[in-house]
Amino acid sequence: MASTIRQLPQWLQAALLLAASAQTASAASLYSTYTFNPLEHLGGVAPYFEPQDPPSSPAAPQGCTAERSAYLVRHAAIYANDFDYEEYIEPFIQKVQNHTGIAWTHIPSLNFLSSWTAPISDAEIEMLTRVGKVEAAQLGADLSFRYPGMKLPSKVWTSSAERTYKSAQSLVRGLETDDNEINVVSIFESSESGADSLTPYKACPAYSSSAGSDQSKVYMEIFTKPIKARLNAAAPKFNFTTNDVFGMMELCGYESVIRGSSPFCDLDLFTPDDWLAWEYASDIQYHYNVGYGNQVSGAVGLPWFNATANLLLNNEDKDQDLFVSFTHRELPPMVFVAMGLFNNSAFGGSEATINDTMPLDRINYRRAWKSSHVLPFLSNLAIERFNCTGSYGYEDGEYYRVLVNSSPQPLPACADGPGTSCSRSGFESYLQERVDMFQGFSATCGVDYDNSTDSLSIYTDSSIGNGTAVGKRYAAFQ
Ligand SMILES: *[C@@H]1O[C@H](CO)[C@@H](O)[C@H](O)[C@H]1NC(C)=O
Ligand SMILES: *[C@@H]1O[C@H](CO)[C@@H](O)[C@H](O)[C@H]1NC(C)=O
Ligand SMILES: *[C@@H]1O[C@H](CO)[C@@H](O)[C@H](O)[C@H]1NC(C)=O
Ligand SMILES: *[C@@H]1O[C@H](CO)[C@@H](O)[C@H](O)[C@H]1NC(C)=O
Ligand SMILES: *[C@@H]1O[C@H](CO)[C@@H](O)[C@H](O)[C@H]1NC(C)=O
Ligand SMILES: *[C@@H]1O[C@H](CO)[C@@H](O)[C@H](O)[C@H]1NC(C)=O
Ligand SMILES: *[C@@H]1O[C@H](CO)[C@@H](O)[C@H](O)[C@H]1NC(C)=O
Ligand SMILES: *[C@@H]1O[C@H](CO)[C@@H](O)[C@H](O)[C@H]1NC(C)=O
Repeated sequence: MASTIRQLPQWLQAALLLAASAQTASAASLYSTYTFNPLEHLGGVAPYFEPQDPPSSPAAPQGCTAERSAYLVRHAAIYANDFDYEEYIEPFIQKVQNHTGIAWTHIPSLNFLSSWTAPISDAEIEMLTRVGKVEAAQLGADLSFRYPGMKLPSKVWTSSAERTYKSAQSLVRGLETDDNEINVVSIFESSESGADSLTPYKACPAYSSSAGSDQSKVYMEIFTKPIKARLNAAAPKFNFTTNDVFGMMELCGYESVIRGSSPFCDLDLFTPDDWLAWEYASDIQYHYNVGYGNQVSGAVGLPWFNATANLLLNNEDKDQDLFVSFTHRELPPMVFVAMGLFNNSAFGGSEATINDTMPLDRINYRRAWKSSHVLPFLSNLAIERFNCTGSYGYEDGEYYRVLVNSSPQPLPACADGPGTSCSRSGFESYLQERVDMFQGFSATCGVDYDNSTDSLSIYTDSSIGNGTAVGKRYAAFQ
């Protein structure tokens, strides 16, 4: 443009340059810049991120110091989960490999398929990725920044699967300052543990891992219809199906945590609306699977909340200030239900109308229940106990606060403290209210073995042992 301008009269040159610079300036000051990151809308395959929703400060409220804190963490990023791989990803990969005759290079949004290779093999299913290990270690370092005054924990607990165990080890490596300072205690993922494990849903016969698929499928068919039509118009021989589209969108998440990026995330292939629809289909699934749409969720989540709240309320036992436990994607959302977090009906509506908040034929954009915020890889829930002195307008004393992925979350009926916190007595009565609502794990689950229990005691039961120390490098556990 500059060289063309130079051939014009000087007054016009000046006017044009001024207009051009005014345009740049006004474009920069307009609040209309639209950006969209699909990685933040990928439900259970979203890489770890901190949505800051609500955007209140994760810093301790004025005058308050964290004295104790307990975390429940989903394992970090894995190559692919069994079900996702077998149901969606592997069939798509095989189909790509079978359709060698398609000239992908001529199809703009899909041309990468001409040289794309699968990022996952059978042998890697369910394993933690390198990014997963790094992010878990980073969370360990983050905890040391957030709680500079707390002593290092002597134990970190985890359910026994390799991906949760290795996530716990990685967190410990980021948290300890030297080798072998912190032990990892493994809790067996038993189908007869009653409520006494970090995977109580596995011991709950009334819980079905496929709950929610029928409902989710209804919306999946709706949102994939135009996408299939578009892709099939571009590559008629491939016959893109609902499962192919769903699998390709999952690959955006999985390939990103394996290779650092993925061509399936390209917004020319799937638009922001496509991603929001994928996310909603996934939110429907989790609503009925581990959320407010499943009658067992609260009963399965309560024992962790109750045991943890009691650990924090306890003033006698001073052995450990920071409690961290690793589990799978199912437990944190069930604990959210037990605690009343992310309830679509919280400010209106009723228990009876909760399913109406997740219609199957269109997106409820204003929902509180968003799986990408609730259960990304490494999703973590914290309950913190503060000692507050000089928080103007509040009495000195103990206050309790909840963080989910570092965003403070208000408890619906416990809001009498600074920021989003609540007082000790408020927290105690809130806990009692939730216990009254959801106690009775064995009865609600229809437990069919006779040694069940309704409470979680791993944090205080000495028969569980002291676990295994973690060095900076892989030695104790291969
Ligand atoms: C790919 O081709 C093989 C061999 O013809 C066939 O057995 C398999 O079902 C095909 N898979 C898909 C997903 O089309
Ligand atoms: C019940 O017994 C089974 C089998 O011995 C065991 O695995 C499980 O941990 C026990 N459950 C409880 C709550 O002790
Ligand atoms: C496309 O795939 C669907 C689902 O597998 C199948 O029912 C249908 O017959 C296929 N269509 C063609 C033209 O191959
Ligand atoms: C969700 O909120 C509604 C409305 O306040 C309430 O009736 C219901 O009990 C809540 N559900 C749970 C599980 O807390
Ligand atoms: C929501 O739907 C599920 C699955 O159909 C059902 O079991 C549950 O009772 C419903 N919840 C309410 C509160 O009606
Ligand atoms: C809370 O902090 C104040 C001021 O640092 C201190 O005097 C008090 O002993 C602390 N309370 C508890 C229960 O630790
Ligand atoms: C709650 O925790 C207390 C203290 O550990 C325990 O006595 C009680 O049985 C627990 N109740 C439930 C429902 O988990
Ligand atoms: C666990 O550690 C405690 C405290 O260090 C010790 O007293 C206990 O004997 C240990 N238990 C086992 C089973 O090693």
